[in-house]
Amino acid sequence: MTLSQKYENEAGMLAGISPSVKPGSVAWRSPSNIALIKYWGKRDFQLPQNPSLSFVLEKSFTETSMEYRYKGNKGSRNLKFDFIFEGQSNSAFELRIRTFLKTVTEFLPFINHLEFKIGSRNSFPHSSGIASSASAMSSLALCLVSIEKELFGTPKTDKDFFTKASFIARLGSGSAVRSVYGDWSLWGKHIIIRGSTDEAAVQVNKEFNPMFKRLADAILIVDSGKKKVSSSQGHKTMNDHPFAEVRYRQAGENIKKLINAMIIGDEQSFIKVVESEALSLHAMMISSNDGYSLLKEATWSIIDRIREFRIKSGLFATFTLDAGPNVHLLYQQKDADAIKAFITLQLLNLCETGQWIDDRIGKGPEKLY
Ligand code: PMV
Repeated sequence: MTLSQKYENEAGMLAGISPSVKPGSVAWRSPSNIALIKYWGKRDFQLPQNPSLSFVLEKSFTETSMEYRYKGNKGSRNLKFDFIFEGQSNSAFELRIRTFLKTVTEFLPFINHLEFKIGSRNSFPHSSGIASSASAMSSLALCLVSIEKELFGTPKTDKDFFTKASFIARLGSGSAVRSVYGDWSLWGKHIIIRGSTDEAAVQVNKEFNPMFKRLADAILIVDSGKKKVSSSQGHKTMNDHPFAEVRYRQAGENIKKLINAMIIGDEQSFIKVVESEALSLHAMMISSNDGYSLLKEATWSIIDRIREFRIKSGLFATFTLDAGPNVHLLYQQKDADAIKAFITLQLLNLCETGQWIDDRIGKGPEKLY
């Protein structure tokens, strides 16, 4: 049985709410994540064409609170909620939440009998070029599954709780699926990770060499503006992409290579795979039928300087890219002093208003109440 069938079957038990249900509130802090093996291309509803692997960040997160009270069955098809983002209304985010809540009601039908007050804030500046959909959607999903737990006592185990939160988060944003666990997560069926599935992420509990458990991520902001082509449009370009099948196969092979490199502590293979993944993602955009690039000159200069610095210093320093021009410089926390000096001297002049975020691998989401 697929997770979707399981949750559909269980939905009947989550439909009825007694009018005497007490109002309540829950809140979660949930991180953003950065994929080293990229998800690019989807099928059906929010299912990935290839597996992806990421780690969650520590300092880039969203906090979401949800107050709920009984609304009754009348007009139960009309969602009722207020949404405040960082103290103000925000119609674009509100629309996204409305669509998300409507979508997940199939699996969490109690949503129709409650009214909500939702409040949300990000730890990172709104216009920093950091995608907030992973942290925002995962924090909402965690709140919803917590409300299920308060009202119905399910999901019973922690494992089931986080699997469901990951599944629900996926319906809001693909990459949000990997934000419900600490450290490393894999999304998508892959032979080397038992229990992996396209419908939800799993935490990767392999014995990685310690150097990969303490990676730091300096996010160098090259451009904080809105992307000219969104990720959802980008995923669509894979539907008729001449290299699609090769790309999906490459991602699967790279997962194997990367996990193996992290287990045996092979820095060179790690760097090779990670940089090739970052550039392959952008190569897909450039070589799609409507070819476009999100990279800027400063992105290339930063990449060149990181590679030169690695050769000259002999330190572990590599990069990855998200679907945008900003560069994630990955390094080991023990080298923080040397790396920060390098950033200050050679990279900040390439960043928009000298902006960067000093982040690292995080421990995953936290329930605030
Ligand atoms: O979650 P979406 O639909 O915004 O897609 C994001 C895809 C990448 O960020 C480019 C890669 C990934 O795996 O997170």
